[in-house]
Amino acid sequence: MSFIVAIDGPAGTGKGTVTKILAKKFKLINVDTGAMYRCVALDMLNKGVKLEELDKIKEILENINIELKHENNKDLVFLNDEDVTEKIRSKEVSGFVSQVSSIKEVRLSMVGLQRKMAEGKEVIMEGRDIGTYVFPAADVKIYLDADLEERARRRFKQNKEKGINTPYVEVLENIKMRDENDKSKEIGALKLAHDAEVIDSTSMSINQVVREISSIIQKKKNEIKMQGKIYKERKENAWKKFVRKVVKVFLSALYHIAYRVKINGSVPKEGAYILCCNHINYLDAAAIVLFNKRKVKFVAKEDLFTHGILYWLGHLFDAIPIKRDMQDIEAMKRCLRVLKKGELLGIFPEGTRKGMEKNMKAKNGAAYMAIKSNVKVIPVGIHGTFKPFSKVYVNYGEPIDLSKYKNQKDKLDEATEIIMEQIVMLTKKED
Ligand code: DC
Repeated sequence: MSFIVAIDGPAGTGKGTVTKILAKKFKLINVDTGAMYRCVALDMLNKGVKLEELDKIKEILENINIELKHENNKDLVFLNDEDVTEKIRSKEVSGFVSQVSSIKEVRLSMVGLQRKMAEGKEVIMEGRDIGTYVFPAADVKIYLDADLEERARRRFKQNKEKGINTPYVEVLENIKMRDENDKSKEIGALKLAHDAEVIDSTSMSINQVVREISSIIQKKKNEIKMQGKIYKERKENAWKKFVRKVVKVFLSALYHIAYRVKINGSVPKEGAYILCCNHINYLDAAAIVLFNKRKVKFVAKEDLFTHGILYWLGHLFDAIPIKRDMQDIEAMKRCLRVLKKGELLGIFPEGTRKGMEKNMKAKNGAAYMAIKSNVKVIPVGIHGTFKPFSKVYVNYGEPIDLSKYKNQKDKLDEATEIIMEQIVMLTKKED
């Protein structure tokens, strides 16, 4: 499975150093996209190709072979099988690369390569446009920034350590120019992605920056792991069936002690139906699942699955986790599979507890699936205060046939209203 960390930001923010450390720490493939543009610039310099010679540049791009390798704890850059790790950092390349990276054809070619390099891999990619253009859906997006003067001071110090004695004012001017160039590119300009985490490293040490980004990466990894656990479909087997039976007997006994449950009506013994029910309390789904002879697979918000016991019960009763703040296609497909198998699907069209009371518009997913799968909806009205020892009524209505709405997507609201009217009527029944 792929995992992408995008590190963007202007020159001199420490992106390179931080990315190297993070790549090692999280075992991610380090893709230095700046080095790739530098390779193109070096190839052009080697072959004496000028910026305006587009045909020759295209030829270079067609034949170029860039490899980023990690050997003996070192990040190495190979251009057409030659180790150019040092050469691409030369003054000539540094002075030329900014213009080279502004050429549309160069960008399209490098972006294609970058996407290919990350295919199905766990990658940390450093550059200017990774979170905005190359991988707009990256798992983690960091925008590393720092004051212009501080970045110039860092670059000046770095140069000195390498024996390069460019005056500070010149370094500052150079960085200023690169910033302007980076931000004004036609494609792939340096921009802040709306969902990126901004880290200003002006007064932070490398270790502090690494720590901050590490915790963001770790949090995302944990989230993905949790999602995997939540969405994993547990296979049905004899043991699971047995445990479910025992748990059902135990929980329904408890439920009966806490509430006087009164069930009116029932569901047909066979066939697929969608049970649409009002939602007043967390325990109302349990009233349907526990007191039904048939198995009801309920759709439940995914956050419920993050609690230990609910996670376990959710999987035991094959509840279907759904992301409520977006169109959850995966959950929808799972629901449709339940119906296709001739089973019972439970949904709260209100979408949330007491949605009707809060004047919220009912969701039309149930009507959509009923029409799409050609199954009937059974309205269910739950009535009760859920105060200890009080009465809880579960009233099943007659199946509603919505087949007349087939191929009429614009009538989904109308179909949902029909379901909701029946549910409301059933919530008033008390015998
Ligand atoms: O990060 P660096 O200094 O090695 O980058 C070299 C050049 O490439 C620099 O001028 C910015 C440009 N670049 C880019 O336009 N897009 C990227 N994703 C990475 C670098």
